[in-house]
Amino acid sequence: MDENGDISEIKRLQTEINFHNYQYHVLNKPLISDYEYDMMLKKLHELEARHHHMITSGSPTQRAGAAPLERFVKVKHPAPILSLANAFNTADLSAWYERIVKLDPKVASSGYVLEPKIDGLTVVLRYEKGILVQGATRGDGEVGEDITTNIRTIKSVPLKIPVLHTGAEAPALLVVRGEVFIMREDFIKLNRTLEENGEKTYQNPRNTAAGSLRQLDPILTSARPLTFLTYAIVQSSDSMPATQWALLNYLKAFGFPVSDLCEPIDSFEQVLARTNAWVERRDAIPFEVDGLVIKLNDLRVADELGFVGKDPRGAIALKYPAREVTTILKDIGVNVGRTGVLTPYAIFEPVEVGGVTVKQATLHNFDFIAEKDIRILDRVLIKRAGDVIPYVIGPIIETRSGAEKPYAMPKVCPSCGQEVEHLAGEVAWYCVNLSCPAQLIRNLEHFVSRGAMDIVGMGIKIVEQLAESELVKDVADLFRLTKEDLLMQEGFAEKKADNLIDAIRAAKQQPLSRLIIGLGIRGVGEVAAADLADNFNDLAELSQTTTIRLQQIEGFGPNTADAIVDWFARPSNQALIYKLKSLGVWPSANQGSRSSKRWYLDGKVFVITGTLPTLSREEAKEFIEQNGGKVTDSVSKKTDYLVLGENAGLKLDKAVSLGVARLDENGLKELIARLEKNNG
Ligand code: IVH
Repeated sequence: MDENGDISEIKRLQTEINFHNYQYHVLNKPLISDYEYDMMLKKLHELEARHHHMITSGSPTQRAGAAPLERFVKVKHPAPILSLANAFNTADLSAWYERIVKLDPKVASSGYVLEPKIDGLTVVLRYEKGILVQGATRGDGEVGEDITTNIRTIKSVPLKIPVLHTGAEAPALLVVRGEVFIMREDFIKLNRTLEENGEKTYQNPRNTAAGSLRQLDPILTSARPLTFLTYAIVQSSDSMPATQWALLNYLKAFGFPVSDLCEPIDSFEQVLARTNAWVERRDAIPFEVDGLVIKLNDLRVADELGFVGKDPRGAIALKYPAREVTTILKDIGVNVGRTGVLTPYAIFEPVEVGGVTVKQATLHNFDFIAEKDIRILDRVLIKRAGDVIPYVIGPIIETRSGAEKPYAMPKVCPSCGQEVEHLAGEVAWYCVNLSCPAQLIRNLEHFVSRGAMDIVGMGIKIVEQLAESELVKDVADLFRLTKEDLLMQEGFAEKKADNLIDAIRAAKQQPLSRLIIGLGIRGVGEVAAADLADNFNDLAELSQTTTIRLQQIEGFGPNTADAIVDWFARPSNQALIYKLKSLGVWPSANQGSRSSKRWYLDGKVFVITGTLPTLSREEAKEFIEQNGGKVTDSVSKKTDYLVLGENAGLKLDKAVSLGVARLDENGLKELIARLEKNNG
């Protein structure tokens, strides 16, 4: 192609690629395939390499083309970059309205625009003759930092404002304000990739966006999935639209991304009526929002109202309750579970988050503490979203004073002092002392619980009393208790003792499947126990079985089979079975153990995440399947419910972004109970 042909081809490609960028990154409506896009960009790179003078800053080849900076240069903003006053409830909103309508009665007929309060970073972008010439951070509102090279890497930021079909051109000078942030789904993907590569994950989208914008090397910024939305004009050489709604449409027409959640509202009463819907839709918005912004639509009225400090009177933010807060980690405690697993938990300086005061949260396991480098006295970020149990995201390293102490996991069980052990390939550490008091209490608690032997009236307090008094050293000892034993305990009178003895006696009649559940064998919940009771006559027969025989039962994999055989192989457990038999706790099969599979959940697809309060993952799975549901590993559009426990992670974020219904353990049980009732 000749020189002139090349030049016009370069111009055509620049315009066309910028247009497709806009279709893809601003409108989310790509018109061509990624391949076609890449081919065009490649062609443009080749042509520009031959005609250097055509490489303008508005060219799409120049998004991440700059060399790393030494430092950021300061930028004076053309007008103060104001912030917003906060309202925390509708009463605050009404007070705001009353104040401003008193100052200017025109407020009453101004109208409003509701906008999402995007939880990102403010940026100020300067366009001269339609070309992006500068991007800056907010800084102190007067002076920010020049982050142009980083801003240019964000694909939804127009590098060049197109001429409109109407012939209208961008003003000679246009300075816009907007928010840079990361979409929730992009954040999940980013962390998943980091996790897969064994790298440290990010804490939340906002901090990640902030860190990415302040990278000196634009290549690093371009690797982060940053995005951008505009909502204000700071300065313009042309006359500006008279209303906020017209202004948003004006920005949109010139190719700027504007949130499609923005809505015009006529009256203040309607604003109040809409706030609930905004609060409810919070999780359905694909990016983090920390509130909603209410702006007077008439910008002249808004201007005339002036400011209080740095807050314009003509707009206000209705803040959502914070879901992430920081607090001091005072100490780390360790719980000993039924199977001897040691679980560390955080003890906080009490803090309010999402409407409740939080004092403790699980830390999951010791690897988690090490990976996140959580130290005692650290300031930690904790999150509580919706009904999810609070969890620790990680420490705020920047606030360390030097007084923080790295955590050393206990070498011995905090309950019995026995040295802790670790199975190869497992994250968990165990106390393997079978007479460890903490384990005994958890074991007894499980044995007497509703899903197992169902000993009515035997709560945690009584279990602890009996274990501490050493009257009960294993679950079989419960059946040795006499009324006199109980009367010696604090809080027992005749009637209470009689009732409990009756309940213990009644439990002897429980079917074999319930006794098997009560033994607390790892991986053996309601469904597996019913299967075992169907296949073996009594505990003696079961204790003689092999892993091969067990794996012939449908649904029994090698792990559960091994766990069962291991459990019965332990001499202490053999002694326990013998003891149960001698005490008459010896149900045999076919005492009505098994109910046939029920179909209440009708093939509904569930995903389980986090630690549930009473059911293990395996038990929850069995419970769902027993009721006709399906359980899969990852959240997708096909998922009907996400069952949430403590420490729910990325699956929760994914479910939120896909609008998948969420249940906690109780919610799951209630759902099944409700369906059961409806089905008679
Ligand atoms: S308007 C005078 N609109 O919230 C204009 N701000 O303190 C004042 N923000 O850091 C800002 N979404 O960056 C406005 N739709 C929105 C916004 C928004 C997020 C941020 C803004 C500022 C903070 C308010």
